[in-house]
Amino acid sequence: MADTKNTATSRLGTIELAPSVLACDFSQLAAESRLALQGGATLLHLDVMDGHFVPNITFGPPVIAALRKALPDALFDCHLMIESPDDLIPAFAEAGANWISVHQEACIHLDRTLHLIEHHGCRPGVVINPATPVHMLDEVLDIVHHVLVMSVNPGFGGQQFIPNALDKMETLVQLREKHSLHFRIEVDGGVAMDTVADVVRAGAELLVAGSAVFGHGDIPGHAKKLLEAARAAKLTRT
Ligand code: DX5
Ligand code: ZN
Repeated sequence: MADTKNTATSRLGTIELAPSVLACDFSQLAAESRLALQGGATLLHLDVMDGHFVPNITFGPPVIAALRKALPDALFDCHLMIESPDDLIPAFAEAGANWISVHQEACIHLDRTLHLIEHHGCRPGVVINPATPVHMLDEVLDIVHHVLVMSVNPGFGGQQFIPNALDKMETLVQLREKHSLHFRIEVDGGVAMDTVADVVRAGAELLVAGSAVFGHGDIPGHAKKLLEAARAAKLTRT
């Protein structure tokens, strides 16, 4: 199990699509996830909400474990929008998470939490809300595998993109270069055909998209189009 997780390596600079299953038909979770992967997605973004840190509730380790059984080889990018994540990190790792990200705003001992994720064989990521500045992450950028910039307030799919995420991603690119770091930059919220070029030009390489992939039928087709638009934007990035 640990080996499988360690092969979930970072490919800095590669554009990847992470469909958020929050927008899928939950009665068809595995089937629709498979369709998104067929469209070229290389990660599955799993939004865990506890009804406390965010005003919504989704699913936890048992559902992730069931999805893992259905999709033994898929890369699971688990975004924990929960209070006290330390208590549940072992259970998410056991359920089959590959990457686990936690909110800076939810972690009193963020350094400890990120090390705990790694200790359980998963890639640690940190997330910031729209109102949280990038500099809150200064002391952990060297130990994270990815930084997830929220471009909506977390809790719901289908919200409008908040553009301050673009400046944050540009700042992260600069910090990564300045300090020779290796974390990847992920964006989550309102990523769709009308925003994807901007996020890629700002430096995002891991693109979370819920409604844009699952919301309009033809799941593989929408995944493919979004990925193509992202790759085209990357080519024009200056
Ligand atoms: C929101 C979640 C997102 C959400 C994005 O709290 O973290 O992953 O599913 O949905 P869209 O892409 O529809 O904005
Ligand atoms: Zn998310």
